[in-house]
Parts: sequence; structure tokens; C-alpha cells
Amino acid sequence: MTSTADRLIDLFATRVREVTPPLFGAAGEAARPVISLAYGLADPDLFPRAELMAAAAEVLAYEAAESLNYAMSYPGLTDQIVERLRAEGVAAQPEQVLVGYGSGQILALLPEIFVDPGDVVIIEGPSFLGAVKRFLQSGARLVTVPVDEHGMDVAALADVLRRLAAEGRRPKFIYTIPTFHNPTGVTLSLERRRQLVALAAEYGVPVVEDDAYLDLRFAGEPLPSLAALDQEGWVIRVGTYSKILAPGLRIGWVYARREIIDRLLMVKAEGTTGPFITRVVARFSAAGRLERHIAALRQHYAAKCAVMAAAIRRHFPAGARFLLPSGGFFIWVTLPAGVSANALLAAARTRGAEFLPGTACFAEPGHGDDAIRLAFSFQSSAQIEEGIARIGAAFNDL
Ligand SMILES: Cc1ncc(COP(=O)(O)O)c(C=O)c1O
Repeated sequence: MTSTADRLIDLFATRVREVTPPLFGAAGEAARPVISLAYGLADPDLFPRAELMAAAAEVLAYEAAESLNYAMSYPGLTDQIVERLRAEGVAAQPEQVLVGYGSGQILALLPEIFVDPGDVVIIEGPSFLGAVKRFLQSGARLVTVPVDEHGMDVAALADVLRRLAAEGRRPKFIYTIPTFHNPTGVTLSLERRRQLVALAAEYGVPVVEDDAYLDLRFAGEPLPSLAALDQEGWVIRVGTYSKILAPGLRIGWVYARREIIDRLLMVKAEGTTGPFITRVVARFSAAGRLERHIAALRQHYAAKCAVMAAAIRRHFPAGARFLLPSGGFFIWVTLPAGVSANALLAAARTRGAEFLPGTACFAEPGHGDDAIRLAFSFQSSAQIEEGIARIGAAFNDL
């Protein structure tokens, strides 16, 4: 007799039949035995626990009825997001902002409203696969544009758009992480930003600007976001409180034209986002506190980035190359010729350290085995130093 598991499989929609492993294991999984530099977790030492506790207590004291019931999303948080966007030079209106359960939710809803099976979505290679996998699940045909030290190769993008237009295909959107890119840490140059926004308008293709790390700049001058450069409404800007406050709060947002926000609301099943937690975040953030917190984060992450960079120089072979990022959570290291990221990972794990192999950052198989992503965000400086030393030793084991 066929088992229940086998009979269930037949019921699942085609797009979810093949189960890919989740980014993180199930809750309650045992603590990792190794020093993990693999994931972009926030530094727990930097969670403003006392202030968040006070903000939560205030919400319960003064707004319990609205915050604990079924209710609309809290407009006060939307207003704060609008204010931050305006400070960035984006002429945002509150109706153009939708708050969601993390930017991950928004990135999963975007293909729901844009993609029919077979539609083209343009991504960067490498990219944040957490988002890219959602595009794939919606049936998108992915076209990858390479990333170099100045961000997405916009000339290559122009070629792709021209070729697709000649075939009569109009991509549904272009997904980019222009500032402190995940995984490479690079930032799209101003010239390329202008070109990208112009291409979007020329071809009538939305650009999904995922600027999760934008506020975490610790060197150099800020560049205008794509949304700030956009005059015609082709940029969909996605943001999050995960990197500037705490990922566990699960609060992210999207700014876009009303036509897009209205459709996102159609597919966002709950209709609202956390009446309680949105009020806590807004109370925490008020009166300049979020900006002061971000300033402290920048200093702290800058120091850890410097520790990691120095450790890499000390412990990795000379052929390992990296660009020092000016912000964000990651250092991307290109390995010496002939060294495989996955072979190095196996050796590093036996020495008690891990990282993300570049292969985990490309949608197509066969790319990225020559590079690794190292996160300096989570571990303490001492653990970063020790973890890099262990990976350095793993090079010698190969
Ligand atoms: C580029 C990028 N976008 C989005 C996310 C998801 O963030 P959130 O916690 O808001 O879902 C991440 C998380 O690592 C990320 O690196």
C-alpha cells in the first residue's frame, strides 16, 4: 500500500513539490558546535533590551485596546518610515508604504503580484537567495546579470534588456541590492545608479531595490537610493528593521506606486501587520532614538569588520582576495586559484568553523565555488578572530 507521505505528494501544487532546505533549521535545533560566520544574524549584544521593554510596557499601558485586538496596521509607524524616506530625498506619501512581517514577506509577495509562470525576472549573480527562491517558486524564468566591484554590471543589464526586447519579452522586474550588497558587500556607483533608473524607465521594467543594509554605512559618503533618483515611479524600495533594530521583531516595508501597494494588499492575507509590534517599534524609534541606535550600530559593526579584515590578512593565504566593504554585514573573499569553497567548508567544519560557500548565492548551479561569504555581524570580535584562524588552518588541510 502507498504510504500517506507518497499520497500527500500528489496533492501539493507543482511549485512546492520539491522541498529545498530552509535557510535556518527548525526552531529548537541544538546550538551550532562550530563558530559560524555563515549567516547575517544581528549582534545580540546590541539589542536595546531595556528600551524595547519600556516601549512594550508603554504600549500595553496606553494602547492595549488597539494593539491587542484585530486592528489595522499602526499608521504612526508608516509615518516614521515616510519621514525617513523623505530625509533620503524620496517624495514618499503614506499611501505608498506598506508594512509587512519582515522585508522577506514583501519579497515573497512581489512575485505573487507580478509573475505568471515563464515570466522573466532579472537578478544579480550572486544575490540573496532567500528572495530569489521565492521568485523561482512563482514560476519565474531567472536571467542573471553579474556583479563586480561597483555593483550590478549595468552595461550587461542593458544588453539583456535589449536582447529580451528583441524577443518581444518584457521582464517583470529587476531585483537588486545596491548598497552593501548581500553577499559581496559592494555598493552600486552613482553613475550606475543613474543608468539603472534610466533603463528601468526606458524599458518600463520595475526595479526592486532591496536596501536592507543601507543605514549601516561605516565609511565613505552616502549615495542616493535608486528610489531617490527615480522620477517616474519604476523603483520599488524594500526596507527592514531587521538590520537596524532586531530581526526577531519581523518588521519590514515597501515603498512603491499606489497601483503596486494596492495589489500587494490583495495578496497579503492578514491585511494588517502586527498592531502590537508596530506600536512598540514606533515608540522605540520616536524622538531620534532609532537614529542614535543606528549610529551606535555603525561604530560597532565597523570595528568588527576591521577585526575580520585584519584576521583574514593574517590567516588566509596570499591568493585570497577581498574588497573591504564600507558597510553592511559581510566580507566576500575570492579564493586562491584551484581552491573549492565547498572543499574548504568541509575542512573548516572539521576544525570548528563555517561560512557560506559562494555556490549558495547563485541561482544557477556551477557558479560561486571560487568564493565565500563571511559575516562579521553576529560573532564577538574574539570569535571572529578564532573562526578566521580556523578557516585559515583549513586552507592548509586541503
Ligand atoms: C538583502 C536582504 N534582503 C532581505 C533580507 C530579509 O530581511 P527581513 O528580516 O526583513 O525579512 C535579508 C536578510 O538577510 C537580506 O540580506
